[in-house]
Amino acid sequence: MVKVITYGTYDLLHYGHIRLLERAKALGDYLIVGITSDDYDKTRGKINNQQSLMERIAGVEATGLADEIIVEEYEGQKIDDIRRHNVDIFTVGSDWEGKFDYLNEYCKVVYLPRTQGVSSSEIRAEKRKLLIGTISDTALNKKFIKEVGYVNGVEYRDCDETLEGVDAVYIATLPEKHYEDVKNALLRGKHVICESPIAIRREQCEELMALAEEKNLILADAIKTAYSTAYSRLLVVAKSGRIGEIVSVDATCTSLQDGAWEEGADLTNKQNSICAWGPTALLPVFQLLGTGYKKKTIQSRFLDRELLFDGFTKIDFVYPSAVASVKVAKAAKAEGELIVTGTKGYIYVPAPWWKTDYFEVRFENPSENKRYFYQLDGDGIRYEIVAFAKSIERKRRDFYISRETSTAIASVMDDFYRRCFEEI
Ligand code: CTP
Repeated sequence: MVKVITYGTYDLLHYGHIRLLERAKALGDYLIVGITSDDYDKTRGKINNQQSLMERIAGVEATGLADEIIVEEYEGQKIDDIRRHNVDIFTVGSDWEGKFDYLNEYCKVVYLPRTQGVSSSEIRAEKRKLLIGTISDTALNKKFIKEVGYVNGVEYRDCDETLEGVDAVYIATLPEKHYEDVKNALLRGKHVICESPIAIRREQCEELMALAEEKNLILADAIKTAYSTAYSRLLVVAKSGRIGEIVSVDATCTSLQDGAWEEGADLTNKQNSICAWGPTALLPVFQLLGTGYKKKTIQSRFLDRELLFDGFTKIDFVYPSAVASVKVAKAAKAEGELIVTGTKGYIYVPAPWWKTDYFEVRFENPSENKRYFYQLDGDGIRYEIVAFAKSIERKRRDFYISRETSTAIASVMDDFYRRCFEEI
């Protein structure tokens, strides 16, 4: 029996795909089709497929041409598959001509002429693009615009406060201004992705969430970490019971980047430590332990009391059967790691944990330790944009950051701005 294998994304299955599969099948007796997983696709820079892996598998299945469907998840898997399945022929379209010659060592490689005039990219392009503008006065703006370029179906458009000509807007102004800017955008009927915190008052955050809902608009927190694969997997592993019950979450985020720490620095128009880092550091706390803490204490050391500019803040939480602690600073330096302590083991994420592609699950017996690696491109911002675009298309707030988490983050800010802290 001659076994043939072929790989592809198969987004929005079209005539070109079917023709390829028919010819691949005709090369032998048994056809295996490898379909790229959503994660693997991200690593190839082909981001924002219209269909999920399950939908793409269903599409190929429906052609009745595949004898077996497998999922392609990692670099180098093709060699493993060819060996494991005793494959005789590897084939793909001629757009890959020469790229897979290295597989000749393992089986025969055949490039089939690509069908002219049709491709998933073109079908995706026919759909109207999501036009996204930015309202920002921080360095984050440039990065965001650059990352938009990596996402299919989304395009950057220049805009002013009237937000004319855009469907959605990225807001990265100073946190005190978020409420006003987000409200303005929602009232003008625009979807919003806003650097967290969405507002520095709990009621304002709730009001904005309700307004978005009433107007059928998406309002998302831009915390890039939430959208990275390694971080999402970490949540799953921690909640699966692998490390037993979670008893403590400890997160540290510090940076000495924008000169706020320098003697006599002008702190106006700069973000304080709690706003710059608080939402990111609080994310694993609320996503792992929930928002129902019994007690919270905030301890801050200030660079400027009048401006409420903290150089260092530590927040401690007490839950019914766990504790959590976050440290954030723009005028102090510490190891930026995340540790989730469990009754059986712990998860360790090395610095800088908020943009990691790696974490480790560790046990008393080190031979049981396990390392997890995932690709992370563009700090996670492009995945955040993909999730935002998908939520808009599907008309539902994405599950990455729940409404409760967003509101809990705003509540912490609220307490800080109401001066419910202890000064150190
Ligand atoms: N293919 C083909 N003819 C086309 C389109 C695709 O023969 N007109 C082949 C590709 O060469 C590949 C397989 O179908 O072997 C799956 O291709 P995939 O990359 O999933 O589809 P494309 O339409 O090429 O997607 P994109 O436009 O996103 O590159």
